[in-house]
Amino acid sequence: MKVSIIGAGYVGLVTGACLAELGNEVLCVDRNVSKIEILNSGSVPIYEPGLEELIQKNSGKKRLSFTVSIEEGVRFADVIFICVGTPPRDDGSADLTAIEEVSDIIAECMDSYKLVVEKSTVPVETGEWVKKTIEKFKRNSAEFDIASNPEFLREGSAIEDFMNPDRIVIGVESLKAETILRELYRPLDAKIVVTNTKGAEIIKHSANSFLAMKISFINALSNICEKTGADINEVAEGIGLDKRINPYFLKAGIGFGGSCFPKDVKAFIHICEKLGYPFNLLKEVEKINEYQKENAFIKLREMLWNIPGKIIAVWGLAFKPNTDDIRSSPSIDIIKKLLKEGAKIKVFDPAAMEKAKEELGDSVIYCNDTYTSATGSDCIVLMTEWNEFKEIDWNRIKKIVRQPVVLDGRNIYDPVKLKNMGFEYRGMGRR
Ligand code: UDX
Ligand code: UDX
Repeated sequence: MKVSIIGAGYVGLVTGACLAELGNEVLCVDRNVSKIEILNSGSVPIYEPGLEELIQKNSGKKRLSFTVSIEEGVRFADVIFICVGTPPRDDGSADLTAIEEVSDIIAECMDSYKLVVEKSTVPVETGEWVKKTIEKFKRNSAEFDIASNPEFLREGSAIEDFMNPDRIVIGVESLKAETILRELYRPLDAKIVVTNTKGAEIIKHSANSFLAMKISFINALSNICEKTGADINEVAEGIGLDKRINPYFLKAGIGFGGSCFPKDVKAFIHICEKLGYPFNLLKEVEKINEYQKENAFIKLREMLWNIPGKIIAVWGLAFKPNTDDIRSSPSIDIIKKLLKEGAKIKVFDPAAMEKAKEELGDSVIYCNDTYTSATGSDCIVLMTEWNEFKEIDWNRIKKIVRQPVVLDGRNIYDPVKLKNMGFEYRGMGRR
């Protein structure tokens, strides 16, 4: 099948490369010229394990190509995936201007039947708007269908998640659209849930909101553990062994970040207000997440007495391991709070340093490795649980720090071991 992907971001690139790998002819479109130039030169503008090899292989087989021309993309394809960004506006609603712009252009350029599929995470009823927009602006009698096919890709494991999905959700309004999408995904041999576009849009927002709620639940519990002398990792194990709860997404820490959870929870709260049913539970999910960052900052102040002038080593900038993405990263938020308090910050992250420089400029000291960042520090803060930070030579650390103080933002270290070595250790809900 001929497929166009409009928006070659984290989701668009993975979707395009994987659909090419399944044997389709794929054209990725992006308005960002430099991004397309990087892709046409055989490189990849984002860090996603396995993506570069997959793109090179399929570009080599002439099944995957890149352009800035959206018109070319519309004319080329039978199926058009919209994967453009839907960033949060100040009021929490999703900014859908890119979705509307793309819909306008599709209407103007389409010259034969098209299946237009929204993959970007969008508020419920967006599919209706896309349909109305194309009907209003299309220039000929060409038929089209709209579908919603939300992505459930986790950054750092996006290709695995695409090729082995728990389920594929397709929201369709016609048998023709359903048939095309079933055909497209047949090689994956995965469970396919068929609903209407509204159902698919709600599945996406509610899935992310539920996962975020699960994380805020365990983070709230971590504060209760801290006040009672229980250990959150032991409590998480104890409840997670109930298969109805399961152990996943029960890791307490400095909170969730990324380009999805914060944005999707905010957008879902906003839509529900608009629909006349305030989803107050999700407001609490947000509050708990914000408090976790505040809580980490309070702990640092308790351990360091005064923040101004202190040197703090930050291990990890990305919102989670195996990605260079720093969007809504708790680490970046806490660094900004510490800078405002007059701390000196030394940072190291295996993949996100370049992206962090765009955000933090020269307000922090960028170090090439874990030990350089720790040298002379009054405190080490573990923010992102990269493997690089799991096996540490603490005897060496003890010799190079100014003060042996550790805040373990992701609860990956052994409190007893560190305390026996003379470190002052605080976790997020550790005994
Ligand atoms: C995006 C949405 O943000 C997310 O909600 C959804 O789940 C999947 O798509 P992501 O791929 O991470 O996620 O977005 P981003 O990395 O920002 O990529 C969006 C791309 O679209 C950018 O490369 C941007 O240049 C491009 N774009 C945006 C266009 O090509 N045309 C536009 O009009 C707007
Ligand atoms: C998420 C969803 O998992 C994915 O299905 C959706 O398509 C996009 O959003 P992603 O944002 O890439 O994926 O990362 P994820 O692995 O879900 O982690 C999100 C955040 O939650 C990270 O900041 C992570 O540190 C945090 N998290 C995750 C926890 O704090 N505790 C956990 O137990 C799990």
